[in-house]
Amino acid sequence: MHPDIERVLLAREEIQERVRLLGTQISADYKGKEILAVGVLKGSVVFLADLLRVLTVPVEIDFIAVSSYGKASASSGVVRILKDLDRSITGRDVLLVEDIVDTGLTLNYLKEHLLSQQPAGLRVCALLDKPSRRRVPVEIDYLGFSIPDEFVVGYGLDYAGRYRNLPDICVLRREVYEGGR
Ligand code: PRP
Repeated sequence: MHPDIERVLLAREEIQERVRLLGTQISADYKGKEILAVGVLKGSVVFLADLLRVLTVPVEIDFIAVSSYGKASASSGVVRILKDLDRSITGRDVLLVEDIVDTGLTLNYLKEHLLSQQPAGLRVCALLDKPSRRRVPVEIDYLGFSIPDEFVVGYGLDYAGRYRNLPDICVLRREVYEGGR
């Protein structure tokens, strides 16, 4: 195991099984439709890549990148769009794909931003949820795992840009991030 990791919270096999089930459920719900999956950069890329490959309905992808000010002290709710969608989502069935929902502020903002462009439908798929950290209510249509408030990295999730490549979702050792959060 990586020396900065305290323990594995969700092992790769458990993640794969859950992603497979999410894919089955989403494919059934969208039968006869075409999905536009919108990944929120950068954390969602690993999850999205796996989810895509278990979907059996037609799917296109696009990406949006956001930056939340004041994240270091706790999300302020002010979200800045760093990269918007490449193509119009008007009339499309959009599935917003997130790696983690924490305070809910990013998702809340993104939902409003996307809804203003009048998609045919908008649903949210998130791999992880930390409900104890929620500041604004948000609805997650497809959820992988609800987790406790621990500092997790891996499977796309980072600390200071690192650890996204770890195949499992892991709890980071406290001494690695103390003082830097
Ligand atoms: C994470 C995650 C969500 C957001 C959730 O992104 O991907 O977008 O934070 O937090 P919230 O519910 O408190 O708003 P992050 O800012 O870490 O960027 P990254 O995906 O590039 O790692």
